[in-house]
Amino acid sequence: MNIKIKSSKKITIAHISSQMAPFSKTGGMADVVNALLRKQSQFGNKVIAITPGYGFIRNQNLGWKTIVKSLSVKIGEEEYSFAVKESMLFNNVKVYFICNYKLFGSHKIYGTGFDGLRFYFFNLAALQLMRHLNFAPDIMHCHCWHAGLTPNFIKKSKFFANSAAVFTIHNLIFQGPKNWWEVPPEKIDSGKKSLPGSKEKIEYINFTKRGILYADAINTVSERHAKEILTAKFGQGLEKILQKRKEDVYGIINGIDYKVHNPLIDKHIYHKYDWDSLRNKKKNKLKLQKEFGLTKDENIPMLGFSNRLSEEKGVLLLQKTIHILLKLNLQIVIISDNYGNKEYVKFFKKIARQHPDKFLIYIKKPFPEDMESKMFAASDMFLMPSSFEPCGISQMKSLRYGSIPIVHKTGGLSDTIIDFNPRKNRGNGFVFSSYNKEEFLMAIARALENYKYPKIWEYLTWRGMKESFSWKLPAKKYLALYKIAIKKRLLK
Ligand code: GLC
Repeated sequence: MNIKIKSSKKITIAHISSQMAPFSKTGGMADVVNALLRKQSQFGNKVIAITPGYGFIRNQNLGWKTIVKSLSVKIGEEEYSFAVKESMLFNNVKVYFICNYKLFGSHKIYGTGFDGLRFYFFNLAALQLMRHLNFAPDIMHCHCWHAGLTPNFIKKSKFFANSAAVFTIHNLIFQGPKNWWEVPPEKIDSGKKSLPGSKEKIEYINFTKRGILYADAINTVSERHAKEILTAKFGQGLEKILQKRKEDVYGIINGIDYKVHNPLIDKHIYHKYDWDSLRNKKKNKLKLQKEFGLTKDENIPMLGFSNRLSEEKGVLLLQKTIHILLKLNLQIVIISDNYGNKEYVKFFKKIARQHPDKFLIYIKKPFPEDMESKMFAASDMFLMPSSFEPCGISQMKSLRYGSIPIVHKTGGLSDTIIDFNPRKNRGNGFVFSSYNKEEFLMAIARALENYKYPKIWEYLTWRGMKESFSWKLPAKKYLALYKIAIKKRLLK
């Protein structure tokens, strides 16, 4: 469905999210929530955010204060109490942290073995907090499966009778505590029965399915992906229920925050630069090569990669082609955290030991944003061969840093990157259509060929850096979507 932007009536919004930059992050969703909070409050709306108070956040010096000492919610027969701490973002957005030591005290965001219980509790606690604050927002913006039960819980609530729920799918592969394809058929959650209270059953709830079934409006993070998820290829088993709700499924592309992702002001890079000082970009390459022991040569093309080392990010293609690639005159720099597949980590660490002069892998948890910036600034090309990609933010960041994206034609990558045609001087990257190693290699080969012509390459870089994928338009589209959701809620 298309979104038309009109009326500017101010509304109240609560974002419910398991991740939120700058406090907690394993992926792009954390940045998206942060950007929406800033933009929506700038537009004059009242915005709050609710997120778990993980153990590692307590160690950050946030100057947060306890605003509620003890509230509680019941799951089955058990009572779970929690405290609420508050911190301020952008001077006017209150962020509330749900603090329960047993469930969220550890340093893990996900992967505890009882994530179902943790996020079941989180949804209930967020609602309990809003009741305590006597705040029933016009919009509950629920991000991914971790907030997927909120639309279900508020369905029959009198207190939230006028609150509309928007459910955003950042990544449909994650639907709940268990991998959806591993759930035994007899344990599959139809989404239609009332929610279970027993700890064992909670771990089988499909939070995403319930988000889709009960939200007033659903969206994913690019227009193309909104169409893709209605098909069996991309629907991750939920295509049928999405098709049933297809009138309510929208696509809104993410933006990026140029106050953060900008080589002119980025404090992490060695030399700041812009499109009219590209000479300094080369200095970044030389410094990175020196610091990490790669061959020092500003003319060797450097290819970056920055993502979880997991299947869907296209790591398999990189693994299958790495030996061919490393025979060429190029360097590869991989930046990642520890959330991916351990086998890939092992594999690429071995490659790094074998080719220290041309292959670098840098892994750190939490995600090393500083090194990612250094990589964007130093590299000439950026690899994003994801098998599917709801939106993808890194390709937009890389353009701003003058690192030309090489991408698979899927989801948001397809909506933002257009294949370069040197004859017509059109396009901003190198795109391959079929997901296989031959096409991936061909796209890299085309990029390397064009790189040999400095004038062409410089113009391509310059043009990419000048493109704008700011949050202004997407943030307005979200407000328009909220109004559609509010209307639907009132009609019910
Ligand atoms: C998820 C998706 C990615 C998207 C991000 C933010 O990480 O995989 O494509 O950009 O969420 O919406």
